[in-house]
Amino acid sequence: MNIDMQTHNNDLAGTLLRWYDQNGRDLPWRRDPSPYHVWLSEIMLQQTRVEAVKDYYARFLDALPTIESLADADEDVCTKLWQGLGYYSRVRNLHRAAAQIMEDHDGSMPETSEELQKLAGIGPYTAAAIASICFDERIPAIDGNLLRVFSRMTGCRLDIKSGAAKTAARSFYEEIFPQTRCGDFNQALMDLGACVCIPKGAPLCDACPWRRSCYAKAHDLCLQLPVTTAKSKRSIENKTVFLIYYQGRLVLRRRPERGLLAGLYEYPNTEGTLPESEIPSHLKGYGFSAVRIRPLPAAKHIFTHKEWHMTGWEILADEWEEHAPGDPGAHELFLASASQLRDVYSIPSAFAKYTSQIREDYLT
Ligand code: ADE
Repeated sequence: MNIDMQTHNNDLAGTLLRWYDQNGRDLPWRRDPSPYHVWLSEIMLQQTRVEAVKDYYARFLDALPTIESLADADEDVCTKLWQGLGYYSRVRNLHRAAAQIMEDHDGSMPETSEELQKLAGIGPYTAAAIASICFDERIPAIDGNLLRVFSRMTGCRLDIKSGAAKTAARSFYEEIFPQTRCGDFNQALMDLGACVCIPKGAPLCDACPWRRSCYAKAHDLCLQLPVTTAKSKRSIENKTVFLIYYQGRLVLRRRPERGLLAGLYEYPNTEGTLPESEIPSHLKGYGFSAVRIRPLPAAKHIFTHKEWHMTGWEILADEWEEHAPGDPGAHELFLASASQLRDVYSIPSAFAKYTSQIREDYLT
């Protein structure tokens, strides 16, 4: 460690907790931090901004107020409540873990980070967050915020994504961690990282309770730390998407049970950018003959590791041979009404451009 932490260690925790008492954010899950509430918020907050989560959090709890109600709910209901948040494996695991809690823990959330990690979708970070906030376990919840604060505080130049950086961060935080208010300490660090020691642009050092102990501040290195190695490039997939109207319904299909956007619903689509001349024969593969084919706007969606570049077509179909052999996915096609599109089937935001193009007046 580049800084003589001994001189400052004694009250880093106290300084931060006093700052948190004055400046901590007033967030919905902090008002009634039951294990279910904290668990749900932590899962929603993975890869998602606090502001984007708030409405989803309220709606989810309105519909499914207890672990038991979540365990009993249909998976499609849970997914619908998640629609637009992305990273849908989170809600599938949440649902699965609720069943585990009902079966193996009498409906009560396990109380240690070790036990929590045995539940679906709960890794070391989430387990530490829940255990510290709900059960005062003395364990740092190390996420990107804590890693960045650690790197700037100590001058650590290890690649911040590396296992070595995580290990070093853990020992730094274990050393300064308070004996009580463990959850508040973790949440104070999250607020410090999100609001003061920010990831993009210059941190707001004048507002930082740790500014007098910070290596990066003392050495003018805030913009150089943390060190990150170049990101791997995302792969690009071209797709052709179809909004097919047939007898006042829209054609949908369910995505495979595994992989990207598993188990969600989508508009029929195929790999590659089909030219207009190939559209009729492709539709034949689905069993449709088209009376009208119109182009829709192009769209792009960026995932963590890939990008979809989409072209779209609006199709009015007048015949459907349901068991056409042509397309491997054709047998999974089905028809959805306007109200089912609204209330039942979760169509991920990757298709938002096409969802916005749906013509309600074509649907009955
Ligand atoms: N990000 C993840 N968990 C959080 C929490 N409990 N408070 C604020 N931001 C968070």
